[in-house]
Amino acid sequence: MPDSDLIEIKISKVIHAQRWRVIRLITRVQEFPTYMPNVKEASIIQKSRNKMITKWKVRVDEVPISWTEEDLLALRQDTIYFKAIEGDLEEFRGEWRFADHPEGTEVSINVYLKVGIPGIQDFADVYIQKLLTKNFEAILDALERRLISIRYASFKRGDIEKVAGFGIIGHLYNFNHLVQCFKMLNPNFKMPSREFLGHLFNITPSFKFYDILDFKSKTGDSVNGCLILATFIPDMIEKDMWTIFAKVVRACKIAEKYGVGIVTLGGFTSIVAERIGQEIANEVDVAVTTGNTFTAAMTIDGVVQASELLNRDIGSLKATIVGGTGDIGSGCARVIVDKVRQLTITGRTKENLRCLRAELAKRHGASIIATTDNEGAVKDADIVISAASATSSILKIEWFKPGAIICDVGYPKNISYTPTTRKDILIFSGGLAKSPTPIPFPIDVGLPSPDTLYGCFSESIILSLEKRYENFSFGRGNITPEKIEEIRQLGKKHGFEVADFYWGDKLIDATVIEKVKQKIHENKTDRIS
Ligand SMILES: NC(=O)c1ccc[n+]([C@@H]2O[C@H](COP(=O)([O-])OP(=O)(O)OC[C@H]3O[C@@H](n4cnc5c(N)ncnc54)[C@H](OP(=O)(O)O)[C@@H]3O)[C@@H](O)[C@H]2O)c1
Repeated sequence: MPDSDLIEIKISKVIHAQRWRVIRLITRVQEFPTYMPNVKEASIIQKSRNKMITKWKVRVDEVPISWTEEDLLALRQDTIYFKAIEGDLEEFRGEWRFADHPEGTEVSINVYLKVGIPGIQDFADVYIQKLLTKNFEAILDALERRLISIRYASFKRGDIEKVAGFGIIGHLYNFNHLVQCFKMLNPNFKMPSREFLGHLFNITPSFKFYDILDFKSKTGDSVNGCLILATFIPDMIEKDMWTIFAKVVRACKIAEKYGVGIVTLGGFTSIVAERIGQEIANEVDVAVTTGNTFTAAMTIDGVVQASELLNRDIGSLKATIVGGTGDIGSGCARVIVDKVRQLTITGRTKENLRCLRAELAKRHGASIIATTDNEGAVKDADIVISAASATSSILKIEWFKPGAIICDVGYPKNISYTPTTRKDILIFSGGLAKSPTPIPFPIDVGLPSPDTLYGCFSESIILSLEKRYENFSFGRGNITPEKIEEIRQLGKKHGFEVADFYWGDKLIDATVIEKVKQKIHENKTDRIS
């Protein structure tokens, strides 16, 4: 029992690993300094069957603390007792306890200590208590990271069963979306001030939000996954890219705790890394894909299908890709250029436009125009693919020409959902797939039905069903027609195909399409007469 004048520290953490693995790592104290920055020295001086004498030197907030302790390994009781036999503190003892937990092992550390320096005792006790709490928390975090690294290292050495499933890293698209999600979680949610909520959300770490269990492929195979929320909205990116980048990295590390095989970077989570010239994949052990190749595949399939439905010969049409120099945009451009009569690509950066135009010109497909003028580029287009990473809408619905097919891939949308009276265009959300298994997300993730998924979400599911835990889509500008075809075929095998057409949550069914056709026909007749 602790003395009444001893200070107590109690901390615990669930580590996502089996108990024996955690205990084995903890007893290898001599390895601690190699992966725990605050542990400067940890050596075993003496060892017998269930006893050890170990020597320690830690440095927390620049304060060095040293001691030698006696450890009793009471493994039948899932406990390791320790007691300092000499060192900087007058008294320092406690125990580590290990208990099974549904997600792994709960490790609890109880420490009793006394600094024992007269005169400054009141200050020293509280101060050292804080430092040692920090020290033990850092040790638990480092143990967890170490176990994760060991798991992914053995996967990389060929033990494929070490990891499994997929993780989807997502974010909300604006502040209103954030509030709407809170209201879905609790209809009685009383909105605090925007400043307070915005600040709180900004400092909230990314977290696992939803388990997706038993996702079934058309082949009968199934896989588990989860949705991890990176706690930012695209508006925040301009202000503090590095914080957002850290949130995305943390989100991937959460997936690693669960031994996920592959994560996909939804929406802006891939864009932020690219903007600061970093690769998320370099920061984490888990395989990372942006999901942009399958998004490009579904975008292309969508516009091809839309042309067929409107009985339009795609080979005679002019297409514009807004954000054509982007990752999805350029992937689409490399395929569309061989299908249409004229292709216009837009972007903000002239150098990017020049490079892509030169590359596309070599393919001998359509004639190519590159411009920074979005409005001019869409006004004359029969097909518009909009894949700009803009934080709010950039295209106006009145700009499109009658009969145009418009596929908005942006998240947030490049074209606002504001109601329109236009019946002479076919406008739909693109890059979406019809999923073989519906996913009932508990919040509105911007999808029109449970069996519709973003292309990027789908890509990670497809790759995990294939056990292809690899950085399939990465960086910007690497999407080739061959990769698009490869992932399209894999998607088809597992039952993913281009989604039904929706604009917002409105289904564009055969009747709507007939009306568009009729309107196009009337316009043509008006022009002739
Ligand atoms: N539907 C889906 O399943 C799905 C999946 C993944 C991503 N997305 C969304 O798709 C969009 C594109 O993603 P990405 O990874 O291809 O992005 P990206 O590589 O960053 O490319 C974005 C493109 O948009 C251009 N751009 C950015 N802001 C613009 C603005 N205000 N006006 C005009 N052009 C602008 C960029 O021009 P510069 O080259 O000059 O920068 C670039 O051409 C994003 O909104 C993303 O969230 C959708």
